[in-house]
This record gives sequence, structure tokens and C-alpha cells, in this order.
Amino acid sequence: MRMDKDIRQRDRSLIRELIEALPLATLVIAEDDRVIATNAVARALLPSLRGDELLARSLRAPDVLDSVARVRASGSSERVIWLERVPVERSFEVSVAPFGGDEFEPALILSLHDLTEARRLERMRVDFVANASHELRTPLASLLGFVETLQGPAREDVAARGKFLAIMREQAQRMSRLVDDLLSLSRIEQHLHVRPDTPVDLVGILRHIVDTLTPMAHDHQVELKIAAPPQAIVAGDRDELLRVAENLIENAIKYGAAAAVTQNKTVDIFIGIQGAQAVLTVCDHGPGIALDHLPRLTERFYRVDVGESRAKGGTGLGLAIVKHIVARHRGRLNIESKPGEGASFSVNLPLFEA
Ligand SMILES: Nc1ncnc2c1ncn2[C@@H]1O[C@H](COP(=O)(O)OP(=O)(O)O)[C@@H](O)[C@H]1O
Ligand SMILES: [Mg+2]
Repeated sequence: MRMDKDIRQRDRSLIRELIEALPLATLVIAEDDRVIATNAVARALLPSLRGDELLARSLRAPDVLDSVARVRASGSSERVIWLERVPVERSFEVSVAPFGGDEFEPALILSLHDLTEARRLERMRVDFVANASHELRTPLASLLGFVETLQGPAREDVAARGKFLAIMREQAQRMSRLVDDLLSLSRIEQHLHVRPDTPVDLVGILRHIVDTLTPMAHDHQVELKIAAPPQAIVAGDRDELLRVAENLIENAIKYGAAAAVTQNKTVDIFIGIQGAQAVLTVCDHGPGIALDHLPRLTERFYRVDVGESRAKGGTGLGLAIVKHIVARHRGRLNIESKPGEGASFSVNLPLFEA
């Protein structure tokens, strides 16, 4: 085997070109543990990586370095999991394989498969199932408790029966709302990549929802004020956009205006046109939402106050549904709040283009 210096340089640049075309972050290290080739994906992923530097100096990953030593000793490839905690938590499956020795100098090739996103999704899925089961279990346990009481100690107690049945009905309704919300969430998710394209008048939708929510606003002594142009035609799905308007206005009544510490019990609703977008804004002057809750508000089952939300018939899925619908419409949801002064939710939606 000739190890002429020029030939080696030429071989190495060939390897560089070759791995540049690979989709996985890839690096090649020589027998002396120096990094002789990296591709763009690897350089973007590991900015500390330096060419012609010892691997141990640019990669602080003891598990990977151990694996490199093992593969070098055994001559057979292996895979290791590398967890990086700083600056952000990331995880990779690193494959370490021997390479060369015949035509090419003996080397090792490392390729990194980023597992971070897959792990995050997996965790979300597990949390979601746990949360959904927990949310269903509470009303279910209460229902069973009352059924047993009615079959046993309260069998002949007419007054108790009426009271218990009313509670049972409420719990069953809560479960039914939850199942409805879960089903619509999964339906919307299924169609997330299909953009709705029928012309829908956002102003008509708003007026319809305001009509249906007026009795509820009335019960809470809340006034709904609308400012909108005659029409705003967006490309959308009518039923889904009805749900968006309903969720936002209902929240503004329940958690905003009705709980307002000031005398201002109005919910201001605007529709405006900005460029190629229609913007729906729902503003209340209630207690608002503390800054640290804002980014998590659209997570499934996330509520600032779980007890309050349950007492008001909430499932904690409303804003998650809104977020998904808006995403499906290629729109944007924006939430702003100054604690003590109210909250403002606005949705941008692309106008319909004939
Ligand atoms: N206008 C608002 N003012 C204050 N808090 C709000 C407002 N809108 C939503 N929230 C908070 O966000 C939480 C999540 O809302 P949502 O996803 O619609 O669930 P739900 O209404 O079923 O509780 C609510 O429980 C409430 O804590
Ligand atoms: Mg809600």
C-alpha cells in the first residue's frame, strides 16, 4: 500500500466531496484521531468542529469517543446514543464505522442521526394520552360514585336523587365536550396539510357567532362590540372558522370581561384588512394573562387556572384547536396581554384570491 503524500491529499479531497453530498451529519477521522473531512450538515450541527483537529478537542462527547476507541480496536462498526445537554438538549444516534485500509488510508466514518425532534414528538404523544385519560377519569369517577350512591344508601331518597342526577348530567356533559374537542383536534390534524380553499366571509361568521354568544354575554353582563367592514372574504373552511371565532370570543367573555376588575365589561371585536390578509382581533379588558403563561397557552390541556376553566365548562383544548385551524389556513395567531389590563387575541388569515 503506497502512502504517498500527494495521493493521500487527493484521496482526502475526494472523500470531502463525497460526504458533502450526504444528508446526515458526517465526519471522517484519520488513524491519528484527527478530523480529516466534515460535511456542511455536520459543520452546521457542531460549530465547534475543526478540520485537522483532534476529535476529542472539538467533540465533548465521552460516549462517542469511547465508541471510536472500541471500533478502532475491534474493527467492527457500532451505534451509540449521544445526549447533549448544553446549550439545548439534543440527542443523536451516532454510527461509528471503520473505513478504508485498502485503497484509502485506514479511517473511521461517523454519521449523526438527530433524534431530538422524534423524541420530542414521542414525549408529546405520551403526555397527550396521559392528560386525556386523566381528564376523562375525573368525571368518570364522579359518575360512578353517584351511581353507587343511588343504588345504595340514597336509593329511596328522592331529594338526593334529583340533586345527584343533575351533577351526573353535568359530568357526562363534560366528558362529551372533551370527546368532541379531542375528535375535532384529531380531524383538523389529519387535514393539516390540506389548505382549505373555499371563499368564506369572515364578517358573516363573526356576526353569526356573536348572535349565538349574546345570551351568554348577557348572563355575564358583558357587552360585545363589533367593528368590521361589510365583508372580508378569506380562503377557508366555514365550520373551522366558526370554531375559531367562538373559542376566542367565549374565552374573552368567560376569562376576560366577566372577571374584569375594572368597570369595563366589553369585549371589542375587530375585523380589518391588512394587505392580502384579513385580521380578526378579540380584545377584553379583564385580568389578562401573565407573561410566563403566554407561550404555553396553545398547548393541549394547558390552562392558567385548571379549576376555573373546569368550573366554566372548559376542556383546555380550545386554543390548541384554534392554533391548528389557523395553521391549516396558513394564517397566524397572535396573543398579547398586559396583566391587569386585558388580553388581545388576533388571527391573520389570507384573503381569498379568485
Ligand atoms: N381572554 C382571556 N383572558 C384571560 N385568560 C384567558 C383568556 N383566554 C384564554 N385564557 C386562559 O387560557 C386557558 C386556555 O384556554 P382554552 O384553550 O380556550 O381552554 P378552556 O377555555 O377550555 O379552558 C384558559 O383556561 C384561560 O386560563
Ligand atoms: Mg376556551
